[in-house]
Amino acid sequence: MVDTCEPNSFILRALIEAGDAFVSGESLATSLNLSRVAIWKRIETFNKNGFKIEAIRNQGYRLLQEPEFIHPNLLQAYFDIEAIKHPIHFFETIDSTNTQGQRELVQGSVAPSLVVGKTMTQGKARLGRSWVSSDTGNLYFSFCFRPNFPAQKLGPLPLWIGLCICEWVEKSWGIPLQLKWPNDLLFEGKKLSGMLAEASIDTDLVRSLVFGIGLNVNSNCTLWPKILKENATCLKLAYGKPLPIHTIAAQLAKTVFESYEIYQKSSHLQAIKLLWGKYNALENQFVRAIQGDKTWEGTPLGLDAHGGLILKLTNGSSHTVYAADVTLAK
Ligand code: BTN
Repeated sequence: MVDTCEPNSFILRALIEAGDAFVSGESLATSLNLSRVAIWKRIETFNKNGFKIEAIRNQGYRLLQEPEFIHPNLLQAYFDIEAIKHPIHFFETIDSTNTQGQRELVQGSVAPSLVVGKTMTQGKARLGRSWVSSDTGNLYFSFCFRPNFPAQKLGPLPLWIGLCICEWVEKSWGIPLQLKWPNDLLFEGKKLSGMLAEASIDTDLVRSLVFGIGLNVNSNCTLWPKILKENATCLKLAYGKPLPIHTIAAQLAKTVFESYEIYQKSSHLQAIKLLWGKYNALENQFVRAIQGDKTWEGTPLGLDAHGGLILKLTNGSSHTVYAADVTLAK
């Protein structure tokens, strides 16, 4: 685990907030109770790690370029700017951020918190599948919570968070995403994000919850195999140019932490219907739902109280699916 070092995040925050202006080494040194040489050494280290920070005698330092890949101090600086108080556990590489999140909760770490992996070696996806996680242009995040709410309340949570993410991406970046029940975020029918919630339940209360999300941001799409190119996409392709990954990361974290808080208080009940009406990828579609060796085909009618998808089947009856794979039927 890489510890986020406060002086470094402080320096980076000052540089971000100054924008095109210079920040004097003296003011940083005074604020941090360090020598000007110590500040300069830190700036040198940043510049060896993907930053471009200009240094001009008698003027100070100016941030020209951020690293393309998640840097823990810069992530912390953006968290501080967004006033996100929850701790970040950052890993250069980890088996799975969800698995690490479970370990954190078992060990008694503070929650809510966020586990971030720059890459993962055993990324997990729904239904026992794996999530390819070697691309450092993407985000691999797991949010850790101790909900202590009844197990029946858990079902619609990933849907709710997914819908809030659609709203954030549309409002902040003008990219129209859709949510394909239950856990996929799509752009123009291609997947750019998947969510995986894993909970531990005890005497009917959800004691711990890890909500994992993989978001394709500035993916190295040229390396993707043909099948992935046909079915997946990333924010960079949707937006037309690369996005600032640390800004995206902090906004994503803020969205998830805030939407979780709203859900905890059961204040989402009206909004979830509105957002579902706006971002539901299955609206007016004829779909096929596969769960194990069972298949249903029909038209989605809506959601039940547990987040299940109610289908009107071809024989006129209705059936609710909970953990199925849903595709558009031909
Ligand atoms: C899916 O689409 O089936 C869900 C994919 C979830 C991937 C994310 S990446 C961060 C978190 N850690 C994991 O091991 N998986 C989730």
